[in-house]
Amino acid sequence: MSEHDPKSQSSQTIDVLLEEDRTFEPSAQFKSQANIADPGIYEKARKDPENFWASFAEELHWYRKWDKVLEWNPPYAKWFVGGKINACYNCVDRHVKNGLRNKAALIWQGEPGEKRTLTYWDLYREVNKFANALKGLGVVKGDRVAIYLPMIPELVISLLACARIGAVHSVVFAGFSPEALADRIKDAKAKVLITADGGYRRGSIIPLKHDADYALMDTPSIEHVVIVKRGEFMLRVKEGRDHWYHRLMQEAANYCEPEPMDAEDMLYILYTSGTTGKPKGIIHTTGGYLVGTYATSKWVFDLKPQDVFWCTADIGWVTGHSYLVYGPLANGATQVMYEGAPDWPDRDRFWSIIEEYGVTVFYTAPTAIRAFMRWGDKEPAKHDLSSLRLLGTVGEPINPEAWMWYHRNIGREKCPIVDTWWQTETGSILITPLPGITKTKPGSATVPFPGIEAEIFTDKGERVEVGGGYLALTRPWPAMLRGIYGDPERYKAQYWTKWKGDLYFTGDGAKRDTEGYFWILGRVDDVINIAGHRVSTMEVESAFVDHPDVVETAVVGIADELKGQAIAAFVTLREGVELDHGLENRLKDHVVRKIGALARPKQILFTAELPKTRSGKIMRRLLRDIASGQVPGDTSTLADPSVVEQLKRRYEED
Ligand code: WT7
Repeated sequence: MSEHDPKSQSSQTIDVLLEEDRTFEPSAQFKSQANIADPGIYEKARKDPENFWASFAEELHWYRKWDKVLEWNPPYAKWFVGGKINACYNCVDRHVKNGLRNKAALIWQGEPGEKRTLTYWDLYREVNKFANALKGLGVVKGDRVAIYLPMIPELVISLLACARIGAVHSVVFAGFSPEALADRIKDAKAKVLITADGGYRRGSIIPLKHDADYALMDTPSIEHVVIVKRGEFMLRVKEGRDHWYHRLMQEAANYCEPEPMDAEDMLYILYTSGTTGKPKGIIHTTGGYLVGTYATSKWVFDLKPQDVFWCTADIGWVTGHSYLVYGPLANGATQVMYEGAPDWPDRDRFWSIIEEYGVTVFYTAPTAIRAFMRWGDKEPAKHDLSSLRLLGTVGEPINPEAWMWYHRNIGREKCPIVDTWWQTETGSILITPLPGITKTKPGSATVPFPGIEAEIFTDKGERVEVGGGYLALTRPWPAMLRGIYGDPERYKAQYWTKWKGDLYFTGDGAKRDTEGYFWILGRVDDVINIAGHRVSTMEVESAFVDHPDVVETAVVGIADELKGQAIAAFVTLREGVELDHGLENRLKDHVVRKIGALARPKQILFTAELPKTRSGKIMRRLLRDIASGQVPGDTSTLADPSVVEQLKRRYEED
């Protein structure tokens, strides 16, 4: 047991983590076949990180080799300076040319039951044609293309087609509301939107084009809309603007020359929540991002030609970008892609997919694992999961009970588990076990990937060797974000100014134990991690006050057994508004309409006043205490301490 200091921490997650003393060594069998099994790699990469990354870059195809591996003008890094590369060529053409032409690239499972397998050749053909179709709509290098699609192969094809012609994709998760879509289209000034007539989720239909039409009322930059036909869903087609994907494909030529991109040309924008209302358009560029996702896919997931890899994340999130599209495809992997929910039609859907396709490496989120635990051991027990050889998790801290359940019931005690810490901003996995090297501890993301340097600092910037503080990254890495779209000041303020000395601030709290293992404790800023996805409190608050009945609100994160965190809201109503029975649900629905179902508040407490400091700042810390049923902390700086007492009473009554 390497943890001794529970005193300094208060949150429950932390205490649970502190009790953890189980360790798991990689088996001799796993080591003997692993892509990397030499522990000396850490020291080697530490001594010469540039060469370390360059050795992965050498494995990719470049039109022109880089002149310099890294140019670091904090907070701006350039990787593989002068190099020319195309991400799509590396994910598709390279394999077609190297003997993998007939290998399955994507094995797609539709929620209602259809199956489609695309070989690398099929993917090549589709991507080339769609790239030509986009060109035909006037899309040129540097243009932004918004993508609002369900989890169907055309989503992967769309990303790759953009990458092929040098267009910047901006994927918007199909679960986001039309308003969220409109905001993101406007921020990026996207020229084309790719959507579908609809998609399936738990047996019901999401009318995507219908929803997108609302967004399109307010997005003047959009010149064309491409609609993929997923089913027989009703929709309106606006002549001249809207085009059926299959029609465009019928007319498109078979080959499209890939655009040789500068290593630092933009590959995509992906929006994520920050601490202020507006989502941040995280910028990723081409060369470094591809190297980072390629390298981590190869070593963390230990991908081999015969593997069947399944990352359950939606491509609407960064996990899907990096570990369903770019990383595994750059490795020539065979992957499963699933359209729907884990409990549709039954709670063993995932296990039946693993059995059916012989999945060997499985990557999912702790929130999903907690749901599986609730559904019971009998669901996975119905299936032969013996094809599995490696498991992964991502998105939030995994509690040791969930880790152990995953280990026993899914890994059947023979699969290593890689708990991978990273962010939309980091682009690739940064803190993680290497499954053929690292001894794992349930609940710990273990140690930085070779070539990555992470540290823990106090508020004042003192380095913490053993103990808790803020997680920082002290050296640039290839897949790091290159900025926030249209907002360089925010990029600096958000990530690079917490301390002096060019340190990247992750926004996460973490502890390091005596063996140098990292234990991620969660967000320390005003961001709530719901089921592994970041939602900013400010954004939810803006959605609330947008409702005519609401004057003021404060939103905090509370612990949720299933989703990790959930939203609790304190709401002050406009004078004269009746607190009728349906109001709570109407407000929740309103937030869902503004942001998406992901942001549905779990509880609302109506209050005449919010606790504020004398300078008028809402004391969120106190609200968090109240909402999580704890004794509120220090109230001495409040303008009116009695507000907290009243709130507490109201909460206990509720
Ligand atoms: C935040 C990033 C990375 C893809 C999915 C989420 C939390 C992520 C872990 C992990 C503990 C984790 C952090 C991080 N997080 N992975 N293995 N253990 N926490 O991407 O939406 O950008 O969120 O997710 O708090 O900062 P994201």
